[in-house]
Amino acid sequence: MTKQITSLQDYKDTYQRSVNDPETFWAEQADTFTWFSPYEKVLDWNFQKPRVQWFINGKLNITYNCLDRHLETRGDQVAILWEPNSPEDDVQTYTYKELLVAVCQCANALKAKGIQKGDRVVFYMPMTPELAIGVLACARIGAVHSVVFAGFSAQALADRVDDAKAKMIICSDFNNRGAKKIPVKQVVDEAMDIGCNSVETVLVHKNTGDAVNWSDDTDLWWHDIVNGQSTQCEAEVMDAEDMLFILYTSGSTGKPKGVVHTCGGYMVYTCFSFRNVFQYKEGDIYWCTADIGWITGHSYIVYGPLLAGATTMMFEGVPTYPDAGRFWQICEKHKVNQFYTAPTAIRALMAKGDEWPAKYDLSSIKLLGSVGEPINEEAWHWYDKHIGKGKSPIIDTWWQTETGGVMITPLPNITDAKPTYASYPMPGIQPILVDAAGNELPDNNVEGLLCIKFPWPSMLRTTYGDHERCRQVYFSAFENMYFTGDGARRDEDGRIRVIGRVDDVINVSGHRMGTAEVENAINEHPNVIESAVVGYPHDIKGQGIYAYVITADKNLDDAFRKEILAVVTKEIGPIAKPDKIQFVNGLPKTRSGKIMRRILRKIASSDTSNLGDVSTLLNPECVEDIKDGALV
Ligand code: WTA
Repeated sequence: MTKQITSLQDYKDTYQRSVNDPETFWAEQADTFTWFSPYEKVLDWNFQKPRVQWFINGKLNITYNCLDRHLETRGDQVAILWEPNSPEDDVQTYTYKELLVAVCQCANALKAKGIQKGDRVVFYMPMTPELAIGVLACARIGAVHSVVFAGFSAQALADRVDDAKAKMIICSDFNNRGAKKIPVKQVVDEAMDIGCNSVETVLVHKNTGDAVNWSDDTDLWWHDIVNGQSTQCEAEVMDAEDMLFILYTSGSTGKPKGVVHTCGGYMVYTCFSFRNVFQYKEGDIYWCTADIGWITGHSYIVYGPLLAGATTMMFEGVPTYPDAGRFWQICEKHKVNQFYTAPTAIRALMAKGDEWPAKYDLSSIKLLGSVGEPINEEAWHWYDKHIGKGKSPIIDTWWQTETGGVMITPLPNITDAKPTYASYPMPGIQPILVDAAGNELPDNNVEGLLCIKFPWPSMLRTTYGDHERCRQVYFSAFENMYFTGDGARRDEDGRIRVIGRVDDVINVSGHRMGTAEVENAINEHPNVIESAVVGYPHDIKGQGIYAYVITADKNLDDAFRKEILAVVTKEIGPIAKPDKIQFVNGLPKTRSGKIMRRILRKIASSDTSNLGDVSTLLNPECVEDIKDGALV
């Protein structure tokens, strides 16, 4: 197993060693895994290209390390513990032995349907065990999985399937989500109508059993082709730098991009980070509430925990069903030891009242994690007091889809935890703050742009099908550095606090959203002439979406607003719906025609005291109008 840090001194020593001699440090971690043949060189990198390769020419299969490797020592231990949407329904468990069998059967079915090494398979599924099984089955045979969060629209799904040129979509019939049933197969049908020309098979897992439309040309039931398969499937021999998965995420411009992670480095870092960040001990029950549609679910529900031989819980439902005590009821029921969630969930549950967590025995909890967005002080203290009972350290973990694993975090009971500070870099991670010109700001008590100056094993390798975009977005802002897109401050003792995005990405309930993406969706409405979208502070969601819209329509009423919301829901999904829509006659622009979002952001945040000099704008007169009509 990869190293587990045990004390502050150990952290300091390990960190120093990882920076002084990264190759030796990561080789030690890598050597704890099973390699089919050893790597020849630990690292080769050049951020200008960019080119980053870890464990060069090493051969492995990540599922061998997640499953087969554990059979002797923990074959009968529960690997996946599944809690269904309804507390009335039965829990399901898969031991390591059983999970391997399920993965092999699914892998053989994929092969039988023509899926080969390198082919892309898109998942559009609820949080059922079959999602984890399917993802691992792809990795078993070297197919590349791309999980699309099942809240995205048919259009968004089709966009991703087309970009990945996926050969297969795996979905369910319906998803259970609280009191609702979501017609997932129907969304896939719509996506198939719009695009998805590369797709040969739609594999449907019968989840609720409700009736679905069926196309004999493409559709197959999971139970028909998976259940009878052989329970053995040899793990495909993968190169360390072969693609493991693509995960689409939003950026400041254009359509979402496919972040590419590869097998070897991702394996080493997710296991290493899981064991240290969560201080997982034998027998612990670990629960991350994320959806596998996001990176958090990939790294810290599936791969990290299984690589580390943990018991990982998967929850199908939502935090407020059947009531606002569900998370805490589950913690009591399964005696959860590590609980990892997002600030938006904490704030939403905090708003429901202290009586909900008070009803349940939360004494099993040893540590609490937070991820996805900055956690505000109030939420931090509520989490600490009402869930952790003041005895469970809170780890505020900062990372990104692109980083593959947690980069900056306190280590529970090892380093200190200061509210709202992600604090200290993980071993092997070298974050720095720079000013706008790229000069390093070495002192404490400074604010700057967060960059990473040395590669780490689980960093993205490219953006799928467009390497130049990867260079442009992450490696061109500052020479020889990976630019995160986040602003951060370092306090007087060297702890880092990540403040938020400095680009045109907003973070709504921990979901990344490109403002351009939302604008493009709004502009699809035939009566919209132009729009501009910005984020503004929102009590529960962290950031809300504020849209300024210029329209040809004279009926500026709520019916029109609803039409705009419907267009956004259709183009992206309900998560991208603007919270506020203000109709305007003009948008403030520079003389070169660029929208001055800074001004719009300030107005949306009700912070109009200092808008700066607007006289140089092309159309300064519109600013007063927008201020007067602001929705506060
Ligand atoms: C933000 C999620 C402050 C940040 C794992 C980052 C955070 C983006 C934190 C990545 C945190 C994530 N404190 N901000 N602890 N964690 N973020 O790709 O802006 O969905 O760039 O990955 O979320 O979001 P993503």
